[in-house]
Amino acid sequence: PTVTGVPHLLTDNDLSPKQLTDVLLSACQFKHDAKVLGKSSGAPLAGKTMALMFSKRSTRTRVATETAVAYLGGHAMFLGSQDIQLGVNESLLDTSKVVSSMVDGIMARVGAHSEIETLAKYSTVPIINALSDLYHPTQILADLMTLHELYTPTGSEAHKTSPTQTLKNLRLAWVGDGNNILHSLMLQLPKVGMHITMATPKGYEPNQEILKQAQEIAKEAGTEIGVFHDPREAIQGADIIVTDTWVSMGQEEEKKKRLQDFAGYQLTTDLINNSGAKPGWKFLHCLPRKQEEVTDDVFYSPKSHVFQEAENRKWTILACIDQLLVKKGF
Ligand code: CP
Ligand code: NVA
Repeated sequence: PTVTGVPHLLTDNDLSPKQLTDVLLSACQFKHDAKVLGKSSGAPLAGKTMALMFSKRSTRTRVATETAVAYLGGHAMFLGSQDIQLGVNESLLDTSKVVSSMVDGIMARVGAHSEIETLAKYSTVPIINALSDLYHPTQILADLMTLHELYTPTGSEAHKTSPTQTLKNLRLAWVGDGNNILHSLMLQLPKVGMHITMATPKGYEPNQEILKQAQEIAKEAGTEIGVFHDPREAIQGADIIVTDTWVSMGQEEEKKKRLQDFAGYQLTTDLINNSGAKPGWKFLHCLPRKQEEVTDDVFYSPKSHVFQEAENRKWTILACIDQLLVKKGF
């Protein structure tokens, strides 16, 4: 349905298992080259521009993208909702045609996922989903890169080790809202051989259509998806525990009700240890974080790898931009 031949990263389904592991390895290679070897990129995006069309706030995704484009020698142009006509004074169709006629790639953060589909339909340049209400594909790349680094055996290097080897059979438990981050995790984890269990309050389950898709991907991959309401059931046997805010951007008006409905879902060291997590469990969170979903004793503990995860947004987004804008496709 999109302009013929233009590759995009709109959902996690745009990456095959092989493309997923390739992009993770490429991200590790970029990190190694830039941080360990101090190498420059050779500026493959010299003279090129990437537009960041963001209708919501962002710290990590914006900084990651702007610095990644700079590393590749290109220009990043931030277009916030206060700056351009995006969806307010002008249709998404017109905006997409106009902006894509002048830039070489678009990173778009939108409300409804249908908005990024409309942008992609009329864009003549690649679009990367920087977050929609249904998916956050670049976040899950950073999560998997971080886990790959953490589970790479001592003495080996992440950029030289296969992610399917390090990640296979790990069990990730999600405790919290059935939101965009959970959707993207469900779709990607089976592709690297990981199992996922989830506990959401009643009424906050993941999108059932996406869950069905994830179950099919998991069946094909031979991995498990466990769906629960009780956090203890989800955490039982987990290697990795993950949560996110209970109030996503755009849901601010539901805050009071959500805080009540999520009572009992706060991650604490006691809850995790008493629920039978593996002794070496690790904690991830996409950030921004609030105290209500996870206590400081977990969030700032040595078991938490959230800041490495945040930094890896840069290396994984860099790998995606390189793939789509320099190599012209995954
Ligand atoms: N994790 C994440 O997407 O953070 P930002 O909203 O700050 O970009
Ligand atoms: N679920 C959160 C993720 C923010 C990175 C949101 O959509 O606001």
